[in-house]
Amino acid sequence: MRVKACLAALGTFLLPITAAQSYGGTGSSNASSSLAPDEHGFYWIYSEGLAAAFIPYGASIAKLLINDAWGIQRDIVAGFDNASYYEIDKQHPHFGSVPGRYANRIKNSTFEIDGVSYKVNANENPTAEAPDGADTLHGGHNGWDYRNFTVVAHANDSITFSIVDPDGEQGFPGEVVSYVTYTVHDWTWDFKMVALATTKKTPIMLSSHTYWNLDGFSNNETNTALNHTFYMPYSGQRVGVDNILIPTGDILANQPGSVNDFWSGPKQIGASFGNPELDGNCGFNCTGYDTCWLVNRAQNGPYDWRTDGFVARLQSAWSGIQVDVYSDQEAFQMYSCNGQNGSMALKTSQGLDDKEYFPRIIPQYGCVVMEVEDWIDAINQPEWGRSSKQIYEPGGDPYILQASYRFSHNTTA
Ligand SMILES: *[C@@H]1O[C@H](CO)[C@@H](O)[C@H](O)[C@H]1NC(C)=O
Ligand SMILES: *[C@@H]1O[C@H](CO)[C@@H](O)[C@H](O)[C@H]1NC(C)=O
Ligand SMILES: *[C@@H]1O[C@H](CO)[C@@H](O)[C@H](O)[C@H]1NC(C)=O
Ligand SMILES: *[C@@H]1O[C@H](CO)[C@@H](O)[C@H](O)[C@H]1NC(C)=O
Ligand SMILES: *[C@@H]1O[C@H](CO)[C@@H](O)[C@H](O)[C@H]1NC(C)=O
Ligand SMILES: *[C@@H]1O[C@H](CO)[C@@H](O)[C@H](O)[C@H]1NC(C)=O
Ligand SMILES: *[C@@H]1O[C@H](CO)[C@@H](O)[C@H](O)[C@H]1NC(C)=O
Ligand SMILES: *[C@@H]1O[C@H](CO)[C@@H](O)[C@H](O)[C@H]1NC(C)=O
Ligand SMILES: *[C@@H]1O[C@H](CO)[C@@H](O)[C@H](O)[C@H]1NC(C)=O
Repeated sequence: MRVKACLAALGTFLLPITAAQSYGGTGSSNASSSLAPDEHGFYWIYSEGLAAAFIPYGASIAKLLINDAWGIQRDIVAGFDNASYYEIDKQHPHFGSVPGRYANRIKNSTFEIDGVSYKVNANENPTAEAPDGADTLHGGHNGWDYRNFTVVAHANDSITFSIVDPDGEQGFPGEVVSYVTYTVHDWTWDFKMVALATTKKTPIMLSSHTYWNLDGFSNNETNTALNHTFYMPYSGQRVGVDNILIPTGDILANQPGSVNDFWSGPKQIGASFGNPELDGNCGFNCTGYDTCWLVNRAQNGPYDWRTDGFVARLQSAWSGIQVDVYSDQEAFQMYSCNGQNGSMALKTSQGLDDKEYFPRIIPQYGCVVMEVEDWIDAINQPEWGRSSKQIYEPGGDPYILQASYRFSHNTTA
């Protein structure tokens, strides 16, 4: 059964490796595609209810267009107006990208495999002792989402990107080859990420790092996303972290009614603002969420991730847009855009006339990042027993991440 599932997963990816090997090009290759990018460098795919634009840089989603409950088209993801700007922008917020080869943080930028210790590129929280950084965020300063993937297939409703990450890049052992496919149908955005360790044992953890504002940053009553309602029915526990968001090893309980409880019922993201427990909840001097919740599906017996309930639901009563996230991943990060400070401009497809309403920028708490993923930094917490979901080797199972984002209208507050 397991072997069959792996073969099925790889079936879509039997693409010429020569195409993958040309990674890092201009991103304009149309070797096996029939549809070219538009004048902004965007590759579009379409379904009955959705139009989505992607770019080679980080295999990122750049636009997601959907009608709200009143029939007005909204672009509900953050990004830039053109593909070329992504690598020019200095802040690099990982807008809509695939962070890799190892998403989220790596404690002390080190890990051990079979008794060998590896040091990878440090790029966050510089200190006097560690001037480059005390830890690694999203795979290092040249992680996957700082590079152009190759477009290996593009149809009206689907696009596949590939990347070959060489042995030793950012300090990681061995080559990794990965394919990322995005598909839309009806009111659904599906994605599948597969990665293979081809030469050595290595950690792999991917995610989709999309910033959502289900009002298309066009709400004329509030410019934050704090009124979005969020619900994670399987997430009674979360990963405990220190003040720079590195896991301590502790798994914490989200008591009903506590600030991190989004499982006992749906709650507005801003519902606990004002509660002192939320201060420091996302690291030193930070109020809000940048939290990895566990997704405890197996507690209810065997499950089919495609049909047995969403792992997260985000909804805005103002636009009436709701997204239900289905995924095979066993953790879920939510970031409430605490670090946004108004320095990012909105896309031309978003926002309102700033003389009448709000400035055309992303304010603090103006968005919500949702990341399907595995337990963060589990490579440094062997007692969690997750090595089969974190460490991959030549000839072994492939890394697989699947998710299905299902949209609908729900105007209840
Ligand atoms: C893209 O396809 C067109 C038409 O088939 C072809 O003329 C062109 O050379 C291709 N460009 C690249 C970069 O492969
Ligand atoms: C692409 O898909 C959309 C939506 O399903 C459809 O309206 C359009 O005609 C399709 N375009 C092509 C070229 O097939
Ligand atoms: C590309 O987008 C950026 C940011 O969205 C914008 O500042 C820039 O003017 C755009 N460039 C072109 C050529 O449209
Ligand atoms: C990456 O692709 C963008 C367009 O999608 C292009 O402007 C840029 O030059 C490319 N970067 C590299 C390093 O090839
Ligand atoms: C942190 O990394 C340094 C190398 O930069 C290493 O000497 C040290 O042992 C590591 N600390 C831990 C606790 O792994
Ligand atoms: C706010 O936006 C909604 C939806 O576009 C619109 O119906 C309403 O008239 C707007 N209100 C104001 C005060 O502009
Ligand atoms: C946001 O939600 C709160 C609490 O439900 C409500 O009182 C307030 O009117 C809402 N604000 C907007 C702008 O929707
Ligand atoms: C805490 O953050 C606020 C901005 O949110 C800043 O003004 C203040 O200086 C910070 N305090 C410390 C001690 O870093
Ligand atoms: C806003 O945040 C960015 C990224 O952290 C930083 O570069 C910039 O200096 C900040 N701007 C202000 C006004 O605080």
